Amino acid sequence: MEQPLKPSPDSYEARDFGWLVAMSLLFFGLVAIGFWREYRTEWGPYQHEFPEILGHYGKGEEARKFIPGIKQIWIPQIAVTDRCITCHLGYDWSAILPPSLAQPLTPHPAGDLIAKHPFEKFGCTPCHGGQGWATTVNAAHIGGPGWIDPMLTPALAASQGLTMDQMMQMRCNFCHRHDEATPGMDVINRGKTLLRKRKCILCHSIEGRGGNTGPELTYEGDSNPELYDFSRVAGQKTFFNWNVQHLMHASRITPTTQMPDYNMPIDDARALTLLILSWRRQSFPPEYIPAPSEAAAAMQPTPATTPSANAPEHH
Ligand code: HEC
Ligand code: HEC
Ligand code: HEC
Ligand code: HEC
Repeated sequence: MEQPLKPSPDSYEARDFGWLVAMSLLFFGLVAIGFWREYRTEWGPYQHEFPEILGHYGKGEEARKFIPGIKQIWIPQIAVTDRCITCHLGYDWSAILPPSLAQPLTPHPAGDLIAKHPFEKFGCTPCHGGQGWATTVNAAHIGGPGWIDPMLTPALAASQGLTMDQMMQMRCNFCHRHDEATPGMDVINRGKTLLRKRKCILCHSIEGRGGNTGPELTYEGDSNPELYDFSRVAGQKTFFNWNVQHLMHASRITPTTQMPDYNMPIDDARALTLLILSWRRQSFPPEYIPAPSEAAAAMQPTPATTPSANAPEHH
């Protein structure tokens, strides 16, 4: 009965050994959980790599301060929650990181465009489309079931004969609709010129002006493609293609139409289609809608700020 009360050096060792094993297992377990947390997500590896890259370009301080996790730009006024930057971590580092860096870490092309549309006010999806809150490539770039705003990727644009840059002008025009012409929106600008030159409003009413031989086009971009007849559309049965081919040869797509066969070049038809499909109902608050350019303003009725408007009325 006395034996257990008299500790031997042996039993000390045995107890310490047990603790050591337990603590080591715990330690390795924690390390494993750390790795698992970092790599189980699609974005984990990018966030692992990013501080190393920052360090490599002389930003050791920022690299040390980098906290892994989901990152987002949240702009409640325009219902934007863009987590794109969970992967596109270099987006705001164009002054430091080279454009040759592989995606998704490439810094965003900077310049006037971003100066006029700072990320903290515009996020990403107002220009690019896509599902902002998603944190996998597929869900973010393409969207889930029923998602109507896929990201305008180079591949999607190419399938309609455009570059990504050109196709994105459709979204630029959500806000720039009332500009006469906008720098950096050459395709849309061309569409706007063609719309005037071809006098489409002889038959179509747009924002309260024009004839009614054809349907109103004010919000044509909101149309439901399922209500259109695609049986005569050549190639891909997209609404974009329906419009391009209809603008070139209306009678081939809608045989009984009164709309003329314009026989216009395909690039003109694409420009007009991009313009027409940009006409969607928007809920951007006024500060997101650019003031009309001076040229456009000059064509508006005289505003009440001119001296003559302040003069007493004569009638
Ligand atoms: C889970 C990580 C991840 C998220 C989230 C993510 N992206 Fe990407 N993105 C990538 C990767 C990786 C690429 C490289 C090319 C590819 O895989 O498509 C890429 C490429 C791109 C490209 C260039 C397309 C090309 O093929 O050259 C654009 C534009 C882009 N992303 C925009 C966005 C926008 C906008 C969002 C948010 C709606 C977003 N991404 C969310 C990982 C991501
Ligand atoms: C004002 C509109 C606008 C906003 C806001 C915007 N982008 Fe872009 N983005 C563009 C345009 C236009 C291009 C194509 C630029 C070019 O080809 O020179 C582009 C290019 C890209 C590319 C491809 C770059 C490359 O090198 O090919 C990625 C990726 C991207 N943007 C991601 C984002 C992310 C992420 C955000 C949000 C943090 C964002 N963009 C916000 C307009 C915008
Ligand atoms: C969500 C709305 C919105 C979107 C989308 C948008 N813009 Fe803008 N844009 C604005 C606002 C608002 C201004 C005015 C900024 C100011 O007055 O300084 C502006 C300013 C500009 C200017 C400067 C105009 C000038 O006369 O100086 C250019 C050029 C421009 N945008 C081009 C584009 C392009 C190209 C795209 C698409 C890649 C785009 N915008 C997408 C809202 C938008
Ligand atoms: C002489 C009258 C006339 C002119 C001019 C005309 N259209 Fe049409 N348009 C119609 C008629 C009628 C329809 C309905 C039958 C059809 O779909 O072709 C139509 C249909 C359309 C549609 C499909 C609308 C929908 O949702 O069903 C679009 C888009 C359109 N026109 C665009 C244009 C554009 C852009 C121009 C100028 C380049 C133009 N139209 C000039 C008569 C005209």
